[in-house]
Amino acid sequence: MKITLSCFFLLLILVPLLASSFDKKVYIVYLGQHGNGKKALHEIETTHFSYLHSVKESEQDAQSSLLYSYKHSINGFAAKLTPHEASKLSELKEVIIVFPSHGKYSVQTTRSWEFVGLDEGDGHSWAELKFGGGEDLLSRAEYGRNITIGVMDSGVWPGSPSFSDRGMDPIPNSWKGICQEGVAFNSSNCNKKIIGARYYVKGFEAEYGPVNATEDFLSPRDMDGHGTHTASTAAGRQVSDVAAFGGFAKGTASGGAPLARLAIYKACWAIPNQPKADGNTCFAEDMLAALDDAIADGVDILSVSIGTDEPLRFENDVIGLAALEASKRNILVVCSAGNSGPTPGTLSNPAPWIITVGASSLDRAFFAPVKLGNGLKIIGQSVTPYKMKKMYPLVYAGDVVVPGVAQNVTGQCLPGSLDPNKVKGKIVVCTRGVGLRVGKGSEVKRAGGVGFVLANSKANGNEISCDAHLLPATTLTYDSGIKILEYINSTEKPMAKISPGRTILNYKPAPFMAGFTSRGPNVVDPNILKPDITAPGLNILAAWSEASSPSKLPEDHRSVKYNIYSGTSMSCPHVSGAAALLKAIHPDWSVAAIKSALMTTAATTNSLGKPITDANGNDATPFEFGSGHFRPTKAVDPGLVYDATYNDYLLYLCTVGPTCLIELNSTFKCPANPPSTLSLNYPSLAIPNLNTTVTITRTVTNIGRPKSTYFFSAKPPLGVLVKATPSVLQFKRIGEKLSFIITVSPTTKKSEYGFGWYSWDDGYYHVRSPMAVYVH
Ligand SMILES: *[C@@H]1O[C@H](CO)[C@@H](O)[C@H](O)[C@H]1NC(C)=O
Ligand SMILES: *[C@@H]1O[C@H](CO)[C@@H](O)[C@H](O)[C@H]1NC(C)=O
Ligand SMILES: *[C@@H]1O[C@H](CO)[C@@H](O)[C@H](O)[C@H]1NC(C)=O
Ligand SMILES: *[C@@H]1O[C@H](CO)[C@@H](O)[C@H](O)[C@H]1NC(C)=O
Ligand SMILES: *[C@@H]1O[C@H](CO)[C@@H](O)[C@H](O)[C@H]1NC(C)=O
Ligand SMILES: *[C@@H]1O[C@H](CO)[C@@H](O)[C@H](O)[C@H]1NC(C)=O
Ligand SMILES: *[C@@H]1O[C@H](CO)[C@@H](O)[C@H](O)[C@H]1NC(C)=O
Repeated sequence: MKITLSCFFLLLILVPLLASSFDKKVYIVYLGQHGNGKKALHEIETTHFSYLHSVKESEQDAQSSLLYSYKHSINGFAAKLTPHEASKLSELKEVIIVFPSHGKYSVQTTRSWEFVGLDEGDGHSWAELKFGGGEDLLSRAEYGRNITIGVMDSGVWPGSPSFSDRGMDPIPNSWKGICQEGVAFNSSNCNKKIIGARYYVKGFEAEYGPVNATEDFLSPRDMDGHGTHTASTAAGRQVSDVAAFGGFAKGTASGGAPLARLAIYKACWAIPNQPKADGNTCFAEDMLAALDDAIADGVDILSVSIGTDEPLRFENDVIGLAALEASKRNILVVCSAGNSGPTPGTLSNPAPWIITVGASSLDRAFFAPVKLGNGLKIIGQSVTPYKMKKMYPLVYAGDVVVPGVAQNVTGQCLPGSLDPNKVKGKIVVCTRGVGLRVGKGSEVKRAGGVGFVLANSKANGNEISCDAHLLPATTLTYDSGIKILEYINSTEKPMAKISPGRTILNYKPAPFMAGFTSRGPNVVDPNILKPDITAPGLNILAAWSEASSPSKLPEDHRSVKYNIYSGTSMSCPHVSGAAALLKAIHPDWSVAAIKSALMTTAATTNSLGKPITDANGNDATPFEFGSGHFRPTKAVDPGLVYDATYNDYLLYLCTVGPTCLIELNSTFKCPANPPSTLSLNYPSLAIPNLNTTVTITRTVTNIGRPKSTYFFSAKPPLGVLVKATPSVLQFKRIGEKLSFIITVSPTTKKSEYGFGWYSWDDGYYHVRSPMAVYVH
């Protein structure tokens, strides 16, 4: 007797009688974990092939439809199948999940995405890490010397000074990775810094055909810039006197762990026949192959600035599935939360074994004032170096469009929308909403404009993402944008002059949350509070691909070594770098301990000592910043940690997952009454439906001082009572674990989320956990 537990994600309403090759799509067939007996790789491949063969007409057919056999840490394969074949495979008892692959994943910066149905995404960035007194931490961690960070992204530009291997240690014998050759990339492009480089393209090519050599390199070499940027943010060398185009953000560029090694896994490719600025896609089956290799190669940390615009369920999300395998080998996976904010419930990468990172500002700005005809000066920001010698007429884009532009997008400066007769020789004010920011500047230039003012939409608020525009330009906050439009309305002949940007340090308040950062609640499992943490993701300077241009516009022929970019893609590698330092200092810490340390020590106040705000100046919530802004110097010594094991995550899946996920590990048996997902020992707490008193057990491990006494305190959300039993924890030794029960009771009905926190203090350590509670 056989019970089919596999999950098959396709409604088979009508299976075509004659399945033609037109119906073939790539499916991922996930087999759960390898048996405990050690099997040779070719045996695993043979097994995969026999499953595939069993649903195919011939051996040849099976051979030509197999894309990948995942055989190292992950067990499964990707193949071109008809829906009928996929369904037949899903009936095999060894098969756990079958799902159609998709290219919904993308790197989380470079794409034009809808922002509240009203904005695009990304910006530009720079890679210096402001760790705040980080020198001590860096030297204690020997700059991350013995750690290898795997970066899955769009590849790497190996010649960058950020990837020099001068003075670095030899590659360890335990390293199993390779330096895969390809177009414009050979073994001499790897060194003691970039110790591995591979690329994964079969899924991409199954969809789009062979990679077009003018659009991407069929090799680990990066033609986009994104992968180079994220890799150098995580582990770029300290390079002095770096600046973006003409002096912006001048200073020392450095990754979080400057002596950590890098292993590059290219799985994201330029989309054919689409503007480069528009995107990049990463296919599920390519990423799974990359992650399978990365785990087997021996990386310590995986930095994944990739996600989906909408949350994916665990059983359908290859990043989450692979990260679970990684957690078994104590490899920490750090992911970006996504750029789909400020809409709630938009967050990607929600699995509790992943650290999910939101994006916030740095204490650096690029002031570029606009002087108006009436003498008023409005402070904008820009990283565009062009000087303007005199005042020019100023117009609002909505007043200078060609006939036929839809009413709702008149101010947006979409391609072809501006009337050159009305724009020539003028400065044009465009608003954010739809379309690429750099594309708007490009449109103004096309129509003969001499300057470009980009005014934020309300959703963007104070978040300014600076771009490398090709004409004098500045970007205004929402409030300043209103001011300039009021000025235009107030006078017959509005005039203005834009000054070039200049770098301002110690800009206050910092940080605040980027408008674009994706928000909780975590719709995949609202019992896990996400994101976990926030880190700098606005206007970050880091290395860039010299085959790309800073704006990625077709008419931009500049080539730069460093570029300024924005997105949760940029915040993710900050945390990867920090995690590398923690791991270097504490090689014995588990994935969960590193994560707990980063979370419980995070800051929730800004440089003015006030609560961190959103981009509109309102207090931000844990649905934006999780536990708060990361503080690696504190995280290295957190006092207590909320630890968890791979086994705990399997137990968690017993409750959350569809039944198929329970089968991921054949030797693990779910208990008859699995515990509530609330009981996963997580460093934060979310209760999505509090209608009666709930009790939750948590366990803390003492890694601070041997003899210590911690006291409980809490600031419960409004309408909620929180207490802990016991409320005092007395530790006698390092490594000791003590449990406590948190009781959460509703006092008034609110029908909305409220936020608060609880903490354990011993007078020295402050171990804080945020709470999000919805009282019914
Ligand atoms: C480097 O890390 C490996 C394990 O990843 C360990 O065996 C080795 O002792 C470490 N070397 C140094 C110098 O810390
Ligand atoms: C790698 O490519 C470079 C530049 O094309 C060439 O000079 C070098 O000899 C090549 N090295 C190897 C090991 O093939
Ligand atoms: C390759 O890409 C370039 C630039 O996008 C395009 O002009 C060309 O037609 C493409 N070639 C093929 C074979 O698609
Ligand atoms: C503008 O309106 C058109 C219909 O008139 C609609 O299709 C489009 O999505 C709207 N665009 C935005 C950005 O709201
Ligand atoms: C400017 O005037 C137009 C029409 O007269 C009006 O719709 C718009 O709201 C005004 N803008 C501001 C910022 O006052
Ligand atoms: C299954 O899970 C157990 C922990 O419950 C773990 O020790 C074992 O290694 C896992 N088996 C495989 C094949 O991963
Ligand atoms: C409280 O909520 C849970 C979960 O939604 C539900 O099963 C239960 O019936 C509710 N209890 C009351 C008293 O409303």
